Amino acid sequence: MTAPLLELRGIRKEFNLARGFFASKRILTALDGIDLAVGQGETLALVGESGCGKSTLGRIVAGLLPATVGTILFDGDQPGRGKARARQIQIVMQDPFGALNPKMSVGELIAEPALLHGLATRRTAPARVAELLRLVGLPEGVAQRYPHALSGGQRQRVAIARALATDPKLIVADEAVSALDVSVQAQIANLLKEIQARTGVSLLFISHGLSLVHHISDRVAVMYLGRIVEEGPAADLFARPRHPYTRALISATPEPVPGAAPDRLALTGEVPSPLALPTGCRFRTRCPHATKLCAEVDPPLTGEGPVRVACHLADSLPTYHVQKPRPAARLQSAIDLYRAAAAAQTAA
Ligand SMILES: Nc1ncnc2c1ncn2[C@@H]1O[C@H](COP(=O)(O)OP(=O)(O)OP(=O)(O)O)[C@@H](O)[C@H]1O
Ligand SMILES: [Mg+2]
Repeated sequence: MTAPLLELRGIRKEFNLARGFFASKRILTALDGIDLAVGQGETLALVGESGCGKSTLGRIVAGLLPATVGTILFDGDQPGRGKARARQIQIVMQDPFGALNPKMSVGELIAEPALLHGLATRRTAPARVAELLRLVGLPEGVAQRYPHALSGGQRQRVAIARALATDPKLIVADEAVSALDVSVQAQIANLLKEIQARTGVSLLFISHGLSLVHHISDRVAVMYLGRIVEEGPAADLFARPRHPYTRALISATPEPVPGAAPDRLALTGEVPSPLALPTGCRFRTRCPHATKLCAEVDPPLTGEGPVRVACHLADSLPTYHVQKPRPAARLQSAIDLYRAAAAAQTAA
C-alpha cells in the first residue's frame, strides 16, 4: 500500500434502537473493531452483503456520523470533525437525484461547495464550474440545466464534479454507480480512475458488483456483520480468496470476475441479526467448514503477507487451481464499447 491517507483504528458503531419511554435499551452493533487504511491515491473497495455496515463505515469516514469508539487518523494527524476534513473528504451516494437540490442549476450545484469552502469567488466560480465539467466529461452547456433534465449517468457525473469542487483528498463512493445500467457503470468507474490518475485523489469504493470492484480497486476489504473478514490487494484476493465468505461472495457473483479463482461455494442460511450475534466467529452459522473452535473463539484479522484474514481455517482449507480467467462478458464488452467511443471522440 502507498503511504496511508486515512487510518481507522478500532472503529465501533452502536445504534440504540430503543424508542419511547418504556423501551429497554436495545443496542445494534453495526461496526465492531474496524482497523483499515486507505493509501494516498489508492482505491480501496469495501464489499459485503446488504446490512454488513458498509454505508455506516462510509458515513463515519465522511464525518456524517460519529463513531461510538475508535480513532480516525487523516493525512497524518487526528483531525476534528471540522471544516478541513469536511472539505477533504467528500461522499458520492447511489441516488444523485436525492443528493442534488432540484431547484439549483448544475452550475450552482457545482459552484456551491467551492464557494462555501472559499475555493472560489462569485467571479471565479463559472471558470471553476467549466473546469470541473470538463474533468467529468460533460459539456459546458450543462451548467445551465437542472438535475431533472439529465440522464442518470449525467447526474452522477454532476455529483462527482460537486464532490471534486473542494479539491478533496478522499472520495467515498457509496454504491455510486449501482443504480446505473452496466455500460454507464463502466463509464463512471473509468471516469473515477481517470480523475484519480490526474488528481491523485484516494477512493473508498463501496459496491456490490465484484466485477467492477476487480476492475477499479487496488485493494479490497470484505465485510461481514460489522467486521472485516479479509483484506488485501485486489489481485491476491480474487485469485486466492482465503476466507470462506470471500470465496462464497466471488462464486455467487452473477458476472464472472476476470482473473478470479473458479469456485462453487454456496452460502446457505440467513445473515444472523446484528442484535444477536453468534458466539465465536460470526460467519460460522453459514460456513460449510465450521468447527468447534469456530463456535468458541472469535478469529482475529491477521496475516503475514499483504493479505489479512479472520478465519481459524484459512490455512487448512483446500487451495485453488487457478484456471484461465473467464471473460467478464457483459462488463468487459461495456468497457470496450466505452474505450472505443472515447477513442472515436479523441480522433474526431
Ligand atoms: N440510523 C440507524 N439506526 C439504526 N440502525 C442502523 C442505522 N443505520 C444503519 N443501521 C443498521 O446498521 C447495520 C449496517 O447498515 P448499513 O447501512 O451500514 O449496511 P450496508 O452494508 O451499507 O448495506 P447495503 O448494502 O444494503 O447498503 C444494519 O443492520 C442496519 O440496519
Ligand atoms: Mg449501504
